[in-house]
Amino acid sequence: MDKLKIKGGQPLTGEVRISGAKNAALPELCAALLSATPLVLHNRPQLNDVRTMETLLSQMGVKITHHDVGVTLDAATIDWPLAPYELVKTMRASILALGPLLARCGEARVSMPGGCAIGLRPVDQHIKGLQAMGAVIDLEHGYIAARAVKLKGTHFSFDVVSVTGTENLLMAATLADGVTVLDNAACEPEVVDLARCLTAMGAKIRGAGTSRIEIEGVTALHGVEHRIIPDRIESGTFLAAAAATRGEIVLRDADATILDSVLDLLRCTGAHIETTKDTITLRGGNDAAGKSKAFDLVTAPYPGFPTDMQAQMMALATCADGTSTLIETIFESRMMHVQELKRLGADIDVDGNTARVRGVSKLSGATVMATDLRASACLVIAGLMAEGETTIDRIYHLDRGYEKIEEKLSGLGASIQRVGGSAAAKG
Ligand code: UD1
Repeated sequence: MDKLKIKGGQPLTGEVRISGAKNAALPELCAALLSATPLVLHNRPQLNDVRTMETLLSQMGVKITHHDVGVTLDAATIDWPLAPYELVKTMRASILALGPLLARCGEARVSMPGGCAIGLRPVDQHIKGLQAMGAVIDLEHGYIAARAVKLKGTHFSFDVVSVTGTENLLMAATLADGVTVLDNAACEPEVVDLARCLTAMGAKIRGAGTSRIEIEGVTALHGVEHRIIPDRIESGTFLAAAAATRGEIVLRDADATILDSVLDLLRCTGAHIETTKDTITLRGGNDAAGKSKAFDLVTAPYPGFPTDMQAQMMALATCADGTSTLIETIFESRMMHVQELKRLGADIDVDGNTARVRGVSKLSGATVMATDLRASACLVIAGLMAEGETTIDRIYHLDRGYEKIEEKLSGLGASIQRVGGSAAAKG
């Protein structure tokens, strides 16, 4: 199994290109199921989750071609509207196929995602929403089996804000009979980008990016070319790493307008940040003792602070001047990086969903284990900060969501090496 070896203490400096957003790419790949003519996605990130979704779609009969600018998905015919357990268990986002399959084929079988490392993560909102649109849904043999001759427009209010839940119902509603109103919808930029893609495909959508989305069903969608937005979490991760190592970096092909809460918090820690239309420059700020300032954060749905950046900010907090408080409100078990940070010398107490991080003078390299995608990113940042060598085990989590991370970090001057197995899959 691959590991990462990092020799810490080097400030990150230079320029790095930000990839397309994983969380926009995944629903947009599924949007191809809604059209009998090809959808072309530009700025496709080369990630294991994207490869898994493409495998899933090709098993259904979607023809997939990769090229320089991205990927073409041709769903002229769908032979097999099924998402099997073997793939769903490796990626919960496979649930995103449910709505489009049902809308296009009138039936779908998608394996129930199991529990996952960061919490229970039920899919009840996806199911309730589709039932409200007239689908008949049975849970049998570990599968969600859904049928609907024709989905019908409805008024559905989410009990909790769900990103993929909103995306699933948004896609399903594009081909439903009549008007669907989604209340308490997720406002994440990836939902907005999906709505932009669907609108270009001929869907009639109003209000994406607000908590009420209205969709007027149409009889068919058509293929288009769409460019996936930049990954705001990859952007935030590099910025946090630069702030933590007191470096100076420029993100290219980034979008600062979807990163407000993260940029504001990094500024509070003392970092200097400047933005243009497609770049973000960060210069690590520090006081006379060379430390960043402690901070408080509470994760929340967009435009609040993203749960997907909580772990990376905790790495930054470990050596800050003072005590930082991080409260996780989205997922119930998203503090597993704490035990690993402590192995590097961090001083952290956890009480329920609240972590109190007292800044220490330094971290010292050790062997640690990645437990989920963003926890892995947190450990990479901590390894870059630590004195001596840090070895991170189980980095397959990292390859799910970060494109060529060791290559990009090496380009910024980090001493980081993948050992023990194959290089990250290509393509
Ligand atoms: C998406 C993102 C993930 C991010 C998360 C929160 C993708 C592919 N993944 O995940 O990176 O961390 O949003 O920003 O876009 N919930 C229910 N019932 C449901 C659905 C969700 O109770 O049917 C709960 C979850 O357990 C969680 C909260 O709602 O506590 C938010 O989850 P949700 O927004 O659905 O996360 P995902 O869409 O899975």
